[in-house]
Amino acid sequence: MKWFTQLFSSTLGYKVLMALTGLFLISFLAVHLAGNLQLLKDDGGKAFNIYAEFMSTNPLIQTVSKGNFIFILIHVIWSIILSRRNRAARGPEGYAVSSGKSSHWTSRNMGILGTIVLVFIVIHLKDFWYQMHYGALPTQDYDGYIVRNLSALVTDWFHIGWYVVLYVLCMCAVGFHLWHGFASAFQSLGLNHLKYNGLIAFVGRAFAIVVPALYALIPGMIYFGLTF
Ligand code: HEM
Repeated sequence: MKWFTQLFSSTLGYKVLMALTGLFLISFLAVHLAGNLQLLKDDGGKAFNIYAEFMSTNPLIQTVSKGNFIFILIHVIWSIILSRRNRAARGPEGYAVSSGKSSHWTSRNMGILGTIVLVFIVIHLKDFWYQMHYGALPTQDYDGYIVRNLSALVTDWFHIGWYVVLYVLCMCAVGFHLWHGFASAFQSLGLNHLKYNGLIAFVGRAFAIVVPALYALIPGMIYFGLTF
């Protein structure tokens, strides 16, 4: 047990925990995107509303959701502790990079990018998650199956120009954060190997471009009425 507490109070332990929570949040992003893309269906919000009702009432999903919030908190708190340790050890250089190579600006700005993503998540939870769980949303009857009309709330927000621009900009921050974070997580877990590094970097960069772009497409297409 001592090795466990020692590991997770060491800098390496902090990095491992950051990587594990980061990879969990990356997988959440993929699942969340698949659900949200249903907003682009031209069905009056039916598919999305049924999906959202299931997700917010299923006990297993709700347990995973609590884990999700805990992982976000750990990821944020640990990143603050780690960057303070690095700054104390190396002087005012910001986010530590383990590779000796000259670093990409995303790796040097993970703190600021992460802060933008965090602010986005807080606004996002207030506007959508809080309303779904504690708000007074109107209901919709689908052949006797009564669900809350979350899609109406989301599409109302996505008809506001500045809100759509805010979302698109925040998705850029998510993309840049992932650009460095994806491959870095594998490195922190010691899962880097000369043979696979190229593949990990490629998958990480493809994910960092495609996933945020699809997220940004949702408010953009709803704003311009381009559902199908
Ligand atoms: C177009 C983009 C997005 C849309 C339309 C969207 C929509 C939603 C909606 C409607 C909810 C509330 C559903 C519910 O609680 O049952 C929600 C929850 C949430 N969203 Fe998003 N989302 C988007 C992007 C993102 C991004 C990029 C992130 C992370 C960086 C994110 C993180 C979360 C989290 C953490 C929750 C709470 C999930 C839970 O209950 O465990 N979302 N989102």
